[in-house]
Amino acid sequence: MKITIIGAGNVGASCASLLSQKDIVREIVLLDVKEKFAEGKSLDISQMLSIVGSNTHVVGVTNDYSKSKNSEIIIITCGIPRKPGMSRDDLVNTNAKIIHNATKKSIFFSPKAKLIIVSNPLDVMAYVSFLTSKVDSSRVIGMAGILDSVRYRYFLSKKLNCSSHDIQSLLLGGHGETMVPLYRYTSISGIPIREFLSKEKNQEIIEKTKKGGEQIVNLLGTSAWMAPSASVVQMVESILKNSKRIFSCSVFLKGEYGLKNVYLGVPVILGKSGVEKIIELQLNKEERDLLKNSANHIKNMMKELKLNDINF
Ligand code: LAC
Repeated sequence: MKITIIGAGNVGASCASLLSQKDIVREIVLLDVKEKFAEGKSLDISQMLSIVGSNTHVVGVTNDYSKSKNSEIIIITCGIPRKPGMSRDDLVNTNAKIIHNATKKSIFFSPKAKLIIVSNPLDVMAYVSFLTSKVDSSRVIGMAGILDSVRYRYFLSKKLNCSSHDIQSLLLGGHGETMVPLYRYTSISGIPIREFLSKEKNQEIIEKTKKGGEQIVNLLGTSAWMAPSASVVQMVESILKNSKRIFSCSVFLKGEYGLKNVYLGVPVILGKSGVEKIIELQLNKEERDLLKNSANHIKNMMKELKLNDINF
């Protein structure tokens, strides 16, 4: 089993580190455009693995996509991260070209791979990767919902002084300010959230969650990587082990939730074929409106894409 990670920056290297520690894949190829960078990161990770007790081989390469040949999953983390004062949306055209190039080369060497997209603005980059790869949309999946959910669960656990492990939450929509965490579908060990917190108080947690990524950008001067990479690893595990876990992921909608031609976060079953099922919930009017608003935001950003500059 071989996995390739494109981009050996904070997110890519952390994905390699977390995934290799699980000892569930034979080889991880870490690729970066920066000369010797992925090689250095890989050596450091490899030397850690005997302490951890993992037999995964981590191989670093400079821009040589042939080394990624026949990967089961390609994780795309390359592109520029945002800096303080920037929104994820500001990155759209710069990262679109980078994601297009990475997808094209990756899918050439691994035509059967599933692609997990991590670069921002997430939903639009997943769409660019899907257009480029020309593979079935069940194989091109954006990571966002897990990350947004764990942030929400973290803030909620602090507020309620309970373990975040016991919180079940569901989040729809785009990765950004328009994300839609669903009060109706949140529970703690099976107890509905309304037993703990009013909808109004919960809204305060949602607002904090929406700013969760930005809070870290402001503290660190660059975007987060530990929680994002742990979120990617959960997706990889569910695909490789065919565990069929249900996560919110950004996927291509073809009429589900009354939306089409857009990548957006919805709950899906993740298994060996990638997205095995999109779960369609009966939303109430308020939830539907919020989701529509989020989809419109993503669609507007898609209009900013200079697709003519990209040679699909
Ligand atoms: C975040 C970035 C990775 O939310 O989008 O931290």
